[in-house]
Amino acid sequence: MLQINDLNVHYQSKQHPVHALGPISLSVEEGGIYAVIGPSGCGKSTLLHALSGIIVKYSGEILLKGQPLCPKTHSIGFIPQNFGLLPWKNVEQNCLLSLHIKKVGIDSKVRERITYIMEKLDIASLQHRYPNELSGGQRQRAAIARSFIMNPDILLMDEPFSALDALTREEAQELFIAIWNQYKVTTVFVTHSIEEAIYMGKKIVIMSTSPGTLVEIIDNPLFNTENLRENEDYLKLSGHIRSIIKNGWRL
Ligand SMILES: Nc1ncnc2c1ncn2[C@@H]1O[C@H](COP(=O)(O)OP(=O)(O)O)[C@@H](O)[C@H]1O
Ligand SMILES: [Mg+2]
Repeated sequence: MLQINDLNVHYQSKQHPVHALGPISLSVEEGGIYAVIGPSGCGKSTLLHALSGIIVKYSGEILLKGQPLCPKTHSIGFIPQNFGLLPWKNVEQNCLLSLHIKKVGIDSKVRERITYIMEKLDIASLQHRYPNELSGGQRQRAAIARSFIMNPDILLMDEPFSALDALTREEAQELFIAIWNQYKVTTVFVTHSIEEAIYMGKKIVIMSTSPGTLVEIIDNPLFNTENLRENEDYLKLSGHIRSIIKNGWRL
């Protein structure tokens, strides 16, 4: 589905190039949700920027559906940390943006999908509001709706819930999983929350300190578990992840 081979990213900063990421090799299975977790500055955002086509200067290979990754040929959903809504467009216009860009006609089937997603994410009544008229949680739900409406080959999210307060965050996480279960869009998201990685990641990818490489990939048995914190395996798994990150392991 998504194949990353020997990916390295260097930034050109003044005279010195900064080795920000890599080398990273990873196969992302179709219909997976991958939670990428690692220490601050290890290159998590850089990884998503390379996967979304924002960064095009990298070495190595990124293949999506067997073809070199390209935002023009692939459909890539990316939710940045600030949600990325255009302030001069209302919720409906923001949500339909990718369909307009890709020149997708809105027939009755597409319309049905749009209505379903908007209702499921509880933003149907907010369609005519502008981003500055929305709460953080509402903005975030609009960004998620936009991504699912475009039906991307892959969905990338950079710390999608970190700007939300605790209650709104939990609600948003549950809504995300509910809508994801409906469409099973292949998703890679970055988080610095161990709890979020365990609740939302079918696979948990742990990165080393900068420049980030992959330390461990965990098949997470606790994905989408209710009352996660009360589960005794949760303590074991979160302790394991915490110790790896704290020790700043490198391969
Ligand atoms: N535009 C840039 N120019 C130079 N260095 C950068 C730039 N963006 C990020 N970096 C550096 O690259 C490394 C990885 O950054 P980033 O991907 O933002 O990390 P994370 O998201 O894991 O916190 C850091 O050392 C950061 O300082
Ligand atoms: Mg970041």
